[in-house]
Amino acid sequence: MSKGRTVLEVGDDGVAIITIVNPPVNSLSFDVLHSLKESFDEASRRDDVKAIVVTGAKGKFSGGFDISAFGGIQAAKERPKPGWVSIEIITDTVEASRKPSVAAIDGLALGGGLEVAMACNARLSTPTAQLGLPELQLGIIPGFGGTQRLPRLVGLTKALEMMLTSKPVKGQEAHSLGLVDGLVSADALVTTARKWALDILEHRRPWVASLYKTDKIEPLGEAREILKFARAQARKQAPNLNHPLVCIDVIEQGIASGPRIGLMKEAEAFDGLVVSDTCKSLVHIFFAQRGTTKVPGITDRGLAPRKVKKVAIIGGGLMGSGIATALIVSNYPVVLKEVNEKFLDAGVNRVKGKNRHLQSRVKKGKMSQDKFEKTMSLLKGSLDYESFKDVDMVIEAVIENISLKQQIFADLEKYCPPHCILASNTSTIDLNLIGQKTKSQDRIVGAHFFSPAHVMPLLEIVRTNHTSPQIIVDVLDISKKIKKTPVVVGNCTGFAVNRMFFPYTQAGLLLVERGADLYKIDRVITKFGMPMGPFRLADLVGFGVAVATGTQFIQNFPERTYKSMLIPLLQEEKRAGETTRKGFYLYDGKRKASPDPELKNYIEKARSISGVSVDPKLVKLSEKDIIEMIFFPVVNEACRVLDEGIAVKAADLDISAVMGMGFPPYRGGLMFWADSLGSKYIHSRLEKWSDLYGGFFKPCNYLAARAAKDIPLSAPKDQAMSRL
Ligand SMILES: NC(=O)c1ccc[n+]([C@@H]2O[C@H](COP(=O)([O-])OP(=O)(O)OC[C@H]3O[C@@H](n4cnc5c(N)ncnc54)[C@H](O)[C@@H]3O)[C@@H](O)[C@H]2O)c1
Ligand SMILES: *[C@@H]1O[C@H](CO)[C@@H](O)[C@H](O)[C@H]1NC(C)=O
Ligand SMILES: *[C@@H]1O[C@H](CO)[C@@H](O)[C@H](O)[C@H]1NC(C)=O
Ligand SMILES: *[C@@H]1O[C@H](CO)[C@@H](O)[C@H](O)[C@H]1NC(C)=O
Ligand SMILES: *[C@@H]1O[C@H](CO)[C@@H](O)[C@H](O)[C@H]1NC(C)=O
Repeated sequence: MSKGRTVLEVGDDGVAIITIVNPPVNSLSFDVLHSLKESFDEASRRDDVKAIVVTGAKGKFSGGFDISAFGGIQAAKERPKPGWVSIEIITDTVEASRKPSVAAIDGLALGGGLEVAMACNARLSTPTAQLGLPELQLGIIPGFGGTQRLPRLVGLTKALEMMLTSKPVKGQEAHSLGLVDGLVSADALVTTARKWALDILEHRRPWVASLYKTDKIEPLGEAREILKFARAQARKQAPNLNHPLVCIDVIEQGIASGPRIGLMKEAEAFDGLVVSDTCKSLVHIFFAQRGTTKVPGITDRGLAPRKVKKVAIIGGGLMGSGIATALIVSNYPVVLKEVNEKFLDAGVNRVKGKNRHLQSRVKKGKMSQDKFEKTMSLLKGSLDYESFKDVDMVIEAVIENISLKQQIFADLEKYCPPHCILASNTSTIDLNLIGQKTKSQDRIVGAHFFSPAHVMPLLEIVRTNHTSPQIIVDVLDISKKIKKTPVVVGNCTGFAVNRMFFPYTQAGLLLVERGADLYKIDRVITKFGMPMGPFRLADLVGFGVAVATGTQFIQNFPERTYKSMLIPLLQEEKRAGETTRKGFYLYDGKRKASPDPELKNYIEKARSISGVSVDPKLVKLSEKDIIEMIFFPVVNEACRVLDEGIAVKAADLDISAVMGMGFPPYRGGLMFWADSLGSKYIHSRLEKWSDLYGGFFKPCNYLAARAAKDIPLSAPKDQAMSRL
């Protein structure tokens, strides 16, 4: 079956319109690329064609290379010859056409889409179109000539910025950069482009081949300085990634040796990167992120999300105000309810907040004063349930107190309309209990935001046995509208993210009590790609919270909780983490952490309470061993989460780890990474540590069963069963 095509239509004016048609985003599949070449060849051949306009169907130019084709390319024994697209099609057919071409851009021109547009002799766009080269996000470099043409159109510095950050620019900015030649409204776009193409033909406008432009690039010496700086930045920002450096090398080659040689180098580099682990991991993450909204038994029933016109939030604390912020910036009218004027003011001020939330956006110039006022006007405070008559969703975000929450839900049942979604932000209280005193259990759902709620990208949607599919479909839709990535999970201690990661700090404590260097553990784990090691993270979260959640895990999973006294000992000395400027680290006024030589005294004390002794092997742990001893227990817990059906699929846990904990996406997420090492290997290591250091490391049944047959941890249950 063919995946997309281009359509050629010739008008009375002699302009051929070549339209890219491949819904939903007109991505460039191999079929589309072939067809693009054929259309250009036909346009060249035909005597009735004088000039060409390239555009995309339904108001979108093109979202770029078809990302779903990566799997096939990576699996194929033979890949297309390097340069086949970038040189034969884009350069020698499109750009070299004897008839001038103009790209008419609306919607998206990303990745390969923009690369096609840059090969045209001019570009027109709408002011709102998005143009960019986001390829680095997928572990590759632009492969259709983008590394050569973008610097020649916008200059080296801006081109580097656009490629290295993967951030698109809007049409307006693209125009001022010289990336597009004119701004046109959507309805006049194609008509103007036709005239523009004829103008080029008749020399009223310049006939430009971007590849050979030189006016925007710096002389070689100066260019090399800019590239050197970019390399240093890239090394600093992404020390584990190679492809940004490859991108810079390829750009340099083009400037030093000429663009044709640059194109060839780009093609070869692309061909190598497309089969790299980094690319496979990032493509996995791309699809995993889009796949979290597919929930078997829920989203395959043909249910349409109902319209949510107004949301109420109960509790204007940290969470409640963060959630309110996320909602109003996405244009949801919000009622914020508090217990008294004072708390209500405090809640509203948090949303406005001088240093946080909205005002800070105004200060940074990311939001205009006008937009700020419009946004704030969507927020109404309330002390009673009067205005709950017409809300479509309520999010409860009060303190964790079961009788209080039960009372609230009983009230909500009374005051809200019968279709209203009733969501709780609880992380510790059984949702079934919360709803016990109501008849509305099918409308109750958990909405677990991560703090700060207006910043963190993940939303755990917690369903109970009673939550109706319609409610989940509704909440999935809202999460999309407020730009959160949702994962649908079941009820358990810690849900998916906190549960999987509770062994993270625990493993660290176990190792430290047996002689491993605490600061080295954090260094190694950060080098692996986590934003923070387990100890720096515990300092940030605060020991109060750490102990409260720890207690829960001890109660629920006593056989695999490591009970270290190190944190309680520190707490006795009023060290509670970053907020007290002392935890595992010492902090200066600027939140900078430095190691504390005193810490070893506490560690010795904790060690003697635990009755363990220093193990010379653990004192000299290699980096590899540290990574595995910290993360394999996390993988083990993630297996339990899957086995218990708390998460629907392994890819959801990959996204949970990446977006909830900052696990490096270029390793594909927790389970994808684990499978790259193999279930058998992980099992054998855990088994050995479990003999040496106790039940904390004991592999769970799910892991053991998969290791026995050497089946990936991520393989769906039915597939794994059929192989047993
Ligand atoms: N070619 C590249 O190098 C490259 C890299 C990153 C993103 N992109 C594209 O940029 C666009 C916006 O990215 P975003 O992160 O904002 O995404 P988004 O989630 O906002 O997605 C926009 C659209 O991408 C579509 N999409 C899904 N699968 C796709 C596929 N196999 N190929 C192409 N499009 C697909 C979705 O249906 C959705 O309508 C997407 O279209 C994405 O494909 C391209
Ligand atoms: C929990 O809430 C109930 C009802 O509002 C209240 O009576 C009780 O004192 C609260 N308990 C705690 C520990 O705050
Ligand atoms: C819910 O909100 C309350 C009040 O802001 C907060 O104390 C609690 O930590 C939140 N729980 C979750 C899971 O977000
Ligand atoms: C909910 O469903 C799960 C699995 O279907 C079951 O194990 C559990 O006992 C149920 N809980 C309640 C309260 O019905
Ligand atoms: C839900 O999770 C809580 C812990 O958060 C647990 O105490 C309770 O038993 C769970 N309920 C069900 C029905 O599984």
